[in-house]
Amino acid sequence: MAEWPYATVLVTKQDVKSGFTSGDRHLDKYFADNAVRNGRADLGQTYVLRGGPSGVQGYYTLVSGSVATDDIRALVEQNLPRYERLGAILLGRFAVQKELQGQGKVGPALLEEALRRSVGIADQAGCVGVYLDAKNDGAARFYQRYGFSRIGEPEALQMFVSMKKVRASIQAAQQEWRKVHPSA
Ligand SMILES: CC(C)(COP(=O)(O)OP(=O)(O)OC[C@H]1O[C@@H](n2cnc3c(N)ncnc32)[C@H](O)[C@@H]1OP(=O)(O)O)[C@@H](O)C(=O)NCCC(=O)NCCS
Repeated sequence: MAEWPYATVLVTKQDVKSGFTSGDRHLDKYFADNAVRNGRADLGQTYVLRGGPSGVQGYYTLVSGSVATDDIRALVEQNLPRYERLGAILLGRFAVQKELQGQGKVGPALLEEALRRSVGIADQAGCVGVYLDAKNDGAARFYQRYGFSRIGEPEALQMFVSMKKVRASIQAAQQEWRKVHPSA
C-alpha cells in the first residue's frame, strides 16, 4: 500500500542536533535552540519531516493566535461575529533544508502537512484560518501559490488563508493522492 511519504512528527532532541540548515540564521537558530524547549513550555509545537542527508528535510512550528476580524473579513466566505479578533493558527516558523529548496517538492509537501494538522486543530477548537509573517517577497510568492493572501499593513507581509479554503484544498489533495494511488 502506498503511504504518504511526507508525514511530519513532533521534533525531538535528536532532530535538533542534526545540523539542519535552511540558510536563514534566525530560522536555524530557532530550530537548534528553541524548537524542543518551546514545545515543552507549550509556547509552540514544532514538527519535522525526517530524511535526506542531514536527517531533517524541513520543519514548521504552529502556535495558537488570533487575527483582526476586519483584516480577514473579505477573505472568509461567511458572516463573522462583531468580535475585534478571532482565533487563528499562526504558522510561526517554516523552513526547508538548503539543498532541498527550490525543487517544488519539500516546501509544498511540508506546507500541506502544516495545513492538514491545522484542520485537526480547528476540529478541536475554533480557528478561522491560518496566518503567518512571510520573511520576504520570495517566501510570500510561495505562500500565495497555496491560497494565502496578504492582510494587514502592506509592508508587513502578513498572510492569511481561511480554514474553509484549507479544508477544501486538503480534501482536493487527498482525492488527487487516491487517484494516483488507488490502493492507498
Ligand atoms: C520558502 C521555502 C520554505 C519554500 O520551500 P521550497 O521547497 O524551496 O519550495 P518551492 O521549491 O516550491 O518554491 C520555490 C519558491 O519559494 C521561494 N523561495 C525559494 N527559495 C527561497 C529562499 N531561499 N528564500 C525565500 N524564498 C524562497 C521562491 O518564491 C520560489 O519561487 P520561484 O521558484 O518562483 O522563485 C524554502 O525555500 C525555505 O526554507 N527558504 C528559506 C527559509 C524561508 O524563507 N522560510 C520561509 C519563512 S516565512
